[in-house]
Amino acid sequence: MIHQYIQTNQDRFLAELFELLRIPSVSADSRHKADVRKAADYIVQKLKEAGAEKVQLCETKGHPIVYAEKMVDATLPTVLVYGHYDVQPPDPLELWNTPPFEPTVRDGKIYARGACDDKGQVYMHIKAFEILMKHKLISCNIKFMIEGEEEVGSDNLGTFVKENNEKLKADVVLISDTSIISLDQPSITAGLRGLSYMEVEVTGPNRDLHSGVYGGAVANPINVLSKMIASLHDENGKVTIPGFYDKVAELSAADRAAINQAPFDLNEYKKELGIDEIRGEAGYSTLERTGIRPTLDVNGIWGGYTGEGAKTVLPSKASAKISMRLVPDQHPDEITKLFTNHFISIAPKSVKVKVTAHHGGEPAVTPTDSKAFKAAAKAFEEVWGKIPIPTRDGGSIPIVALFKKELGLDTVLMGFGLDTDALHSPNEHYGIKNFLIGIETIVAFYKHYSA
Ligand code: BES
Ligand code: MN
Ligand code: MN
Repeated sequence: MIHQYIQTNQDRFLAELFELLRIPSVSADSRHKADVRKAADYIVQKLKEAGAEKVQLCETKGHPIVYAEKMVDATLPTVLVYGHYDVQPPDPLELWNTPPFEPTVRDGKIYARGACDDKGQVYMHIKAFEILMKHKLISCNIKFMIEGEEEVGSDNLGTFVKENNEKLKADVVLISDTSIISLDQPSITAGLRGLSYMEVEVTGPNRDLHSGVYGGAVANPINVLSKMIASLHDENGKVTIPGFYDKVAELSAADRAAINQAPFDLNEYKKELGIDEIRGEAGYSTLERTGIRPTLDVNGIWGGYTGEGAKTVLPSKASAKISMRLVPDQHPDEITKLFTNHFISIAPKSVKVKVTAHHGGEPAVTPTDSKAFKAAAKAFEEVWGKIPIPTRDGGSIPIVALFKKELGLDTVLMGFGLDTDALHSPNEHYGIKNFLIGIETIVAFYKHYSA
């Protein structure tokens, strides 16, 4: 019956999702402020149409949060659905095969910024809710909180959660904003990494200099910064910041074996990325390197002359953005401090260094023995015919730790994307199959959760 309904309505479901994908709700870009609001308004409208109550646009200091609910009976358990309607900037635009905000279907996949992260996955929840309402299958209370600042660090969500803890009262949080292993092997994410995000600036001479007149006699900030950055890893791929690994929880041999049991094809991985060899921390597998080990990566680096042709210049400044992915029990504030102290300490006297911290977030591990996790597992088993494997994802959703801290709530990370869906990259896409089967799986989740 559910499967049938989804098939009959799939064209409409997709058309509605496409309308949402056409709104360029780039939270990082102030020129898109009105578009971000437009996407929020659209979510409001669609939740209302699906039958949600108390649907409201909640103002924050930044982009608005959409709240909605369907209370069936206060004695029944309540599921709080969280997601985000904002998206990453689409740049570099020239690498998109079709425009990022004109959703296009190729090979059964929807190509658009936000198709998978997270508009496509949020929309599955709205359609699952429509189905529950239409078929009078609602057997627990459902609340929605869909925010517009996830991709820029959820700065105002913490305040919203603190100020609305009564309104957000629930028994579990349900989020679809992560990946499965593949359509042949479903999985449920049981852990996410945390994040510390830094920006560094190295200053040498008080102005750009002629690289012939001064070159060789004055420290070049780009040369210096490159060397400093290179020194942040040793030959074994370990981060060299003193104390960086002190709080890292070492997993038991059994837990590590479980992680490595997930199907993983290294050749396919390399081929898909166009690389001949992988690299990472010695002593760990790829799944461990992305799932349970902390990292440090330069996200961007600039300075000097990068325009057309050649300009012989010894630059005054060089900068970089550096992110560190964290695992339990590392804390972003502590890691930020360790990084800052270390980075300043390795700077030669010939330059000055400025270090600033951007947003961060705590890592999270979610329980796999809860009623809600088991319901999610049963839902996959019923709809996919396969038992899902618990996995650790490398990305971050800082709100998960916050829900635990502020509301005492555990989260179930029932995502349906693929790691290869090009999240944050050009040509982001989402499988139509993933979208449709996701809706069915979410409906099944509620059934098993309320059973
Ligand atoms: N949905 C992603 C996180 C994600 C992706 C988790 C794939 C697991 C698998 C989320 O939108 C995201 O991009 N988060 C940011 C962190 C945030 C603080 C900007 C990230 O991980 O970089
Ligand atoms: Mn996301
Ligand atoms: Mn994202």
